[in-house]
Amino acid sequence: MTATLIDGKAIAEQLRGGIAQAVKGLERDHGFVPGLAVVLVGDNPASQVYVRSKAKQTVEAGMRSIEHKLAETTPEADLLALVKALNTDPTIDGILVQLPLPSHINADLILETIDPAKDVDGFHPVNAGRLMTGTGGLVPCTPLGSLKLIKSVRADLSGLDAVVVGRSNIVGKPMAQLLIGENCTVTMAHSRTRDLPAVCRRADILIAAVGRPLMVKGDWVKEGAIVIDVGINRVDAPDLGPGKTRLVGDVDFEAARQRAGAITPVPGGVGPMTIACLLANTVTASCLRRGLVPPVL
Ligand code: GUN
Repeated sequence: MTATLIDGKAIAEQLRGGIAQAVKGLERDHGFVPGLAVVLVGDNPASQVYVRSKAKQTVEAGMRSIEHKLAETTPEADLLALVKALNTDPTIDGILVQLPLPSHINADLILETIDPAKDVDGFHPVNAGRLMTGTGGLVPCTPLGSLKLIKSVRADLSGLDAVVVGRSNIVGKPMAQLLIGENCTVTMAHSRTRDLPAVCRRADILIAAVGRPLMVKGDWVKEGAIVIDVGINRVDAPDLGPGKTRLVGDVDFEAARQRAGAITPVPGGVGPMTIACLLANTVTASCLRRGLVPPVL
């Protein structure tokens, strides 16, 4: 079998189109435009690239983007004060503090200070708890985008075996909760899992979110499985020339596509969905804060 490619770029574009329509409707019918505040501390080059893309796509969707760029040496107390000011600012619907933060700042404390109603990353313990209890709330963007990609291939996931490799708070754990919500039988695998290849081979849906380049081998993939590669790893590519690099996922794509039913490429798979879901969460938060029913995106 050669797998169908899941085109995250195209699906994200479609989602952003729906978001732009929803934003127009909110302005027309309710007289407001959602606003997203993004806070960047320091000058991590990868974070700068992400923050620029977020701001650009927010504006392209017709929303307001507010950026706060702070020095690497910013005291924790100053960042806390900014988050609290954004919490009470009625023109702000979503707050995202870009991670990683400098080591002198307690990231957990900052994330727990964000108003859960404005927590468009879905990282606050209240939103994590709501996802676990199935009681609404804002859902982390990468797992939400990954689920949309899975459902673009197969709408009903009921009864399928899903294996999530990686147990981070940002991807692995919320991904497992979303799949439980879809009536999958979910296994969480990680660095201490015994016989990981055999565990992966049971998966009708295999999610790789470990951050280790090409770790999941082709023969770990069940024939016909849906494979979602969350990894974005920059590796040396001497074949492209001296000093060159390329992006690869956590899955050995060329081998896995021979067995999978459908698979996401890297780049162009999960990556574009993450920012699109951030925009969707901003629209959702803006509606819920005003007692409006959020649009289905
Ligand atoms: N750094 C890398 N990805 C993310 C993300 O999705 N949210 C935040 N806040 N920081 C990140």
